[in-house]
Amino acid sequence: MQRSDSDALVIFGATGDLCFKKIFPALYNLVRRGHLSIPVIGVARAGWNVEKLADHVRDSVHTAVKKTDEAVLSKLTALLKYVDGDYTKPATYESLKKALGDARRPLNYLAIPPSVFPPVIGCLERAMPVKDTRVVVEKPFGRDLPSAQKLNATLLASFPESNIFRIDHYLGKEPVQNLLYFRFANSFLEPVWNRNFVNSVQITMAEKFGVAGRGKFYEEVGAIRDVVQNHLLEVVSLLAMEPPLSATGEALRDEKVKVLKAIRPLSPADVVRGQFAGYRQEDGVAKDSHVETFAALRLRIDSWRWSGVPFYVRAGKSLPVTATEVVVEMRRPPARVFGDASPEQPNYLRFRLSPDTAIALGAHAKKPGPAMQGRDVELFVDQRDPDEAEAYERLIGAALIGDTTLFARQDEVEAAWAVVDPVLSVDSVPFEYTPGTWGPKESDAVIKGDCSWHNPGADAHSWTRSCGPINLSKFAP
Ligand code: BG6
Repeated sequence: MQRSDSDALVIFGATGDLCFKKIFPALYNLVRRGHLSIPVIGVARAGWNVEKLADHVRDSVHTAVKKTDEAVLSKLTALLKYVDGDYTKPATYESLKKALGDARRPLNYLAIPPSVFPPVIGCLERAMPVKDTRVVVEKPFGRDLPSAQKLNATLLASFPESNIFRIDHYLGKEPVQNLLYFRFANSFLEPVWNRNFVNSVQITMAEKFGVAGRGKFYEEVGAIRDVVQNHLLEVVSLLAMEPPLSATGEALRDEKVKVLKAIRPLSPADVVRGQFAGYRQEDGVAKDSHVETFAALRLRIDSWRWSGVPFYVRAGKSLPVTATEVVVEMRRPPARVFGDASPEQPNYLRFRLSPDTAIALGAHAKKPGPAMQGRDVELFVDQRDPDEAEAYERLIGAALIGDTTLFARQDEVEAAWAVVDPVLSVDSVPFEYTPGTWGPKESDAVIKGDCSWHNPGADAHSWTRSCGPINLSKFAP
């Protein structure tokens, strides 16, 4: 990749929530590591000035960073400029051009509602040299396949694909990067990473909190649009893709698209939707809302490697813990050499993606003693790094140097929408579940026959199964 660095960062929506919670702390860390020294221009229609923006940035960093280095924070606030104005008015872009001064290759971060993207993109195209102008857009990237296609058409009418950075922050997470690395940096996985040895794959993204005051936003999306179409299908693609020719740029994105296109579009029979009791009493939520706060689904990948291997995906709010895990469960040995003493769990690989980073291999070992009896053991590696870069820091850093590897490409986004699109318009009443449980019991039906849901624990070592211990007689040869 030929590196070409942006020479200014323009943030539309600089007074908003995303900037306060994620973007400003990420910029602080980029400055701290010496990766950011260009002007940072906040654009908003709040009637603020640069001093007020600087106060806001200080407040954001103090809230997010435990021991703030004030010298670093001062370096960041010294980079700030502020442009006030309506995003749809040419006058705003005149002021922006003045603020940009000599900068010719700005990175424009659209931390604004998608409904405002089209006018802002049009104004940017008129105000700046398209060839060198980069645009970062946040999810939700459309709300179904047709709207995503429309949004892509709007973006691509103004900017080349190589200048468009669609953020899915999961792709910037260290443990998600590690999935890709672990898969293709080890030779022992490849021979078993297929339908001959893998029994099933499970991905659970559990959140202990509810909609956390975002009821109005959540009513527009629901769990499938909010996290399955993007974060979790990205994880599926990294787990299921073929080896890319290289881990950068288009080679990686090409392979992800191929596997996403091989996923059979969902049918209503593959999905169980749930809603936690009390959701309808949240601010901004309809009293008769059918929006799902939980979804469990079964994916099928029609490829040579994965045909017949179910990929079970589950996401929900108000579950017992906040944790995301992947479990790749292997087939059982073809014969039981040790008779009844055969251990209960099948072999598995477990990737802890959140809130910490860990890899575990579930195996069987002999219980010390005279009898040939076994026990389940886990070979466990804690990959946590106290100075780990947050997803937003990594992604903004990559966009600033023009590296698109960690961003979703047009065809990738559309292929992911095509998977979930057939179930988005289903208007059935979701099954109710009690907050703090693993969703509606009906979700057990998604997993047919051979195993049950793997429930991540609050700490990286612990986990349980939904349906109690596995009944070994089911697996008797
Ligand atoms: C966001 C969703 O994209 O991801 C939220 O809109 C969700 O509903 C969040 O809580 C989870 O991200 P993280 O990084 O906190 O796991």
